[in-house]
Order: sequence, then C-alpha cells, then structure tokens
Amino acid sequence: MSSEAIAREVKRRRTFAIISHPDAGKSTMTEALALHARMISEAGAVHGKGGRRSTVSDWMEMEKARGISVSSTALQFAYEGAHSGDVPNVINLVDTPGHADFSEDTYRVLTAVDAAVMLIDAAKGLEPQTLKLFQVCRHRGIPVITVVNKWDRPGQTPLELIDEITDRIGLIPTPLFVPVGIAGDFRGLLDRRTGGFIKFTRTAGGSKIAPEAFFTADEALESEGDAWIAAVEESELLGEMGQDHDQEMFLAGQTSPMIFTSAMLNFGVRQLLESLVEFAPAPEGRDGIDGTERAVTDPFSAVVFKVQAGMDTSHRDRLAYMRIVSGEFERGMVVTHAQTGKPFATKYAQAVFGRDRSTVDTAYPGDVVGLVNAMALAPGDTLYIDPKIQYPPIPSFAPEHFSTLRVTTADKYKQFRKAIDQLDAEGVVQVLRNDLRGDAAPVLAAVGPMQFEVVTARMKAEFNVDTILEPLGYSLARRTDEASAPDLDRQRGVEVFTRSDGALLALFGDKWRLQFIEKEFPDLMLAPLVAAA
Ligand code: G4P
Repeated sequence: MSSEAIAREVKRRRTFAIISHPDAGKSTMTEALALHARMISEAGAVHGKGGRRSTVSDWMEMEKARGISVSSTALQFAYEGAHSGDVPNVINLVDTPGHADFSEDTYRVLTAVDAAVMLIDAAKGLEPQTLKLFQVCRHRGIPVITVVNKWDRPGQTPLELIDEITDRIGLIPTPLFVPVGIAGDFRGLLDRRTGGFIKFTRTAGGSKIAPEAFFTADEALESEGDAWIAAVEESELLGEMGQDHDQEMFLAGQTSPMIFTSAMLNFGVRQLLESLVEFAPAPEGRDGIDGTERAVTDPFSAVVFKVQAGMDTSHRDRLAYMRIVSGEFERGMVVTHAQTGKPFATKYAQAVFGRDRSTVDTAYPGDVVGLVNAMALAPGDTLYIDPKIQYPPIPSFAPEHFSTLRVTTADKYKQFRKAIDQLDAEGVVQVLRNDLRGDAAPVLAAVGPMQFEVVTARMKAEFNVDTILEPLGYSLARRTDEASAPDLDRQRGVEVFTRSDGALLALFGDKWRLQFIEKEFPDLMLAPLVAAA
C-alpha cells in the first residue's frame, strides 16, 4: 500500500478510551456510541437489568447479538458524521477494565490511545478512580474530552462541575454545548458555536437514537423560556471567562472540551462522536528509545500494551494486544520482536473477545490487534518490520497493595521461582526483593488487588504450584536511591526493596509514617511514583 493510502487510513482513525469511576455509565455510553455508529439497531437488550456483567462480557454479548466487531480490549466501528469527508471515520474504543479488575492493565491501556473521554456522573462529580486515570492521561500528555453524564437525573450545575474540575485538577473545561434544562430536566443542548438549540426527544426506554430537532435562539426562547435564558447566560459567562474551545490548548492538555449527555437516553452521544472526530488527534508517529522518529506512513511497527493469559483453559494460551504505530499490518507477515531480535509470525492475528475470535487481515496505525500464542511478548515490547525501531518501555505504575507469596510445598520451589520470573516478565505484578526476606517469599506489589488473584490462579493452573499470599502492612511506595536506602531501612515502619527493573522502592505503612520520615529526614530521597518511569 502506498504511503498516501496509509496516510488516508490514519487520518480517518480516532483511538480513545473512556476513563471513569464505576457506575458513571461507561458501559451504557459504549453501547450508545456503537448505536450511534449505526452498527447496531437497538441498545438495551445487551445492557441487562439487575446484576451487572463486566464490560468484557457485555461486549462479548454485544458481538454475538449484533455482529459488530468487538474484542475484550477494543471495539471498532465506522462512523459517518458531519466531519467524516468522503469515507466514514474508523473509531477504536479501547476498553479500560473497571470495577474489581482495576489494575496496572487499566493504566497500560492508556498508552495505546490518542485521546481520553473523562466520563463524570453529573451528581457525583470527580471520583477517585477517574482522578487516578486522569493523572495518567496528564502524565502521558493525552488530551481529554470531558463528558458530564446522567444529565437526565438531578445533579450539580454546570458551573459547579466546571469549578470542581478546574480547582481539583487544574484542567479548564471549555464546554462545546451547554445543557438546556437543569440536571434532571434535560431538554437539549445550546450549541455554543452556532448559538442554536438542539432539542432531544426521548424514545421508549432510550433504546433508539434520540431524534434531534434544530431551532434558532428565538425559537428556543419561545419554547423553552427560562431554561433557554439560563443556558444563554451560562454560555455568555463562559465566553467572558475565556472558556471557549482552543485546539492547541486542548492538545496540550490544558483545556478540555466539555459535553453534557445522558447515555441512557442517547442524548448528546452524537455530539460526543462528532467532537471526537473533529478535535481528537488522529494517530501519530512515535519516537524510538534512541530518538529515531517513526512516521505513521513508515514500515510496520507496533507496541504491545496488554497481555492476557489463560483465557482458554484447554491449552496454555497467551494473547498479546498490540497498538499499531506505523505502516500497514497484514496478517501472516513476519515481524521482528525488538526485545529478543527474534522473528514473530502473525498468522494468528485476531480481534478477540472471550472464546469467539474473528480474524484480522489488515490493520492500520491506531488499530488494536490481538496476537494469539504470543508467549514471548510482554507489555511495552515492540514489533517491527525493518528498519529496526524500539519504543520506550511502558512505565511501572505506583503500587498500593503489597503481599508476600510463598509456596506451600518445598519440592515445588523450582517451579515457583520459574513462575515468578515469568509473571514478573509479563508484567502481571511487580516483584520486589530484599536481602532480609530472601528469595523464598518475594513481595508482590500491585496497583489493584485483583492482580494477586491472577498470580495465584496462574501459579496453580499453569505451573501446578500452590501458593499462599500474606498481605503486608504497607500501602505506599516511594522511589529512593542507594544513598538514602540504608537510613530508610533503619526506620520503624519502613522497608526498602529492589524491584526487578532495578528501581529501589521504600514502602510505608501509611501516609503519616511517610510524612513523619520526610519531615525528620528531609535529605533522604523519596520521590513519588505516580506514573513515572
Ligand atoms: P459503568 O460501566 O461505568 O460501571 O456504568 P454503567 O454503564 O453500568 O451504568 C451504571 C448505572 O447507571 C446503570 O444503572 C445505568 O443504567 C445507569 N446510567 C448510565 N448512564 C445513565 C444516564 O445517562 N442516565 C441515567 N439516569 N442512568 C444512567 P443500573 O441500575 O446499575 O443498571 P441497569 O439496571 O440500568 O442495567
């Protein structure tokens, strides 16, 4: 394929993730987006009432029921909108696992996207998980579109939400639309660019695309009265405060286009898609670890951002998900694994969701492809076609959960060591060691406790090793150095470890202990590990 043709494929792609706290409406929004992409005719049947399934299984069900391209990791759909031009856009929505399986994987997914949608519940505002994920976006320079969801229910005012976001995270919302009607009385949106009114109509159960009608400001004043006047005043106030969309500031992570939606009623969802297409960046090239530039039209290269093992219990199975960075991917091509220099055959490239898999034949920058039986691949690894490129490793994220892991029977110790090394290399957990504890009971460090369960389950299933986890009383890690380590280690309630990548980490029981040490010993090196490499 010519580089012009690749450039055209790249230009129409948008790859993003939704970051949110559980229950803000991510699954509902995912479904609503796909509904608006006209890939499915009706939402709701999938979104089961009562007991919530995980997003992964929701998507599996969606694929089965609707025949759209879904994987447990990325949902791809075509969208033909006002900004699409001659060909539809291709939207890749990369799933961030939520709820209990919140773990390092969640953060790693953000290395595979070009933009994020920060989905907020109108009543609850910023919640802890949203904040954590936002910090990773900020650290990685990922531009963020803010969506205030559930506007059909009572909640805060737009200005309260804007203030909260500005004050707490320093991100300046620049609403593209202002809701007409307070939270709980969602009538439509004032389009701040045209000054017109987009009126929504409810459909039965919110299961179809909500019809939109367009009115001028005068017509809106007549039909909506005070609700329209309030929206106009809010919009003017925002204008006076300079809170209008600015593409450069958005891409620089300083401002965030803001939209108000009801994912449940499908209100504002088209506006979100349009904004993604119009403002979110198309995939771009990346620099290699040595500074080499790789343009999107250069030969194929990709970064592995997630590895999933043991999905098929009948045989040992490992799926690596790669985000394509440059070039055209064709199934069957033999690529090089930069970390080992070995060839890797891509015969089994698939879009994967649970047991059902569909083959991917071609893919372009921004797309996500699952590679089956990818035993040698770990998160952060690079695959390429000559010339060689190796992308920087994915940073390790700040762990908050710590446990020792011990084998129950001494005769399995060798397998245990092998398994630990394997799981460590795969990035399932971080492994910490120090002389005092020795190698018999390494300390596992995780961002989310679910990672521990994965370790013990895989120890048993794949290595036939029974293990016992014992939680450690630490909850906080700081990076330190050789000079500070001995002094820190002498303090009560502090323990220093070496992580397998060589980093020295000091663990603390709680933030008070940390604050005390910082105050008493200001010269000791203690650096936060937010999402830093
Ligand atoms: P999550 O993936 O972020 O965890 O959220 P999810 O979509 O599962 O939504 C959480 C709950 O919020 C669901 O209700 C869902 O119907 C509701 N919800 C999502 N978006 C909106 C919205 O725009 N307006 C209103 N009013 N509700 C919304 P549930 O009762 O837990 O589940 P269900 O019985 O509806 O399936």
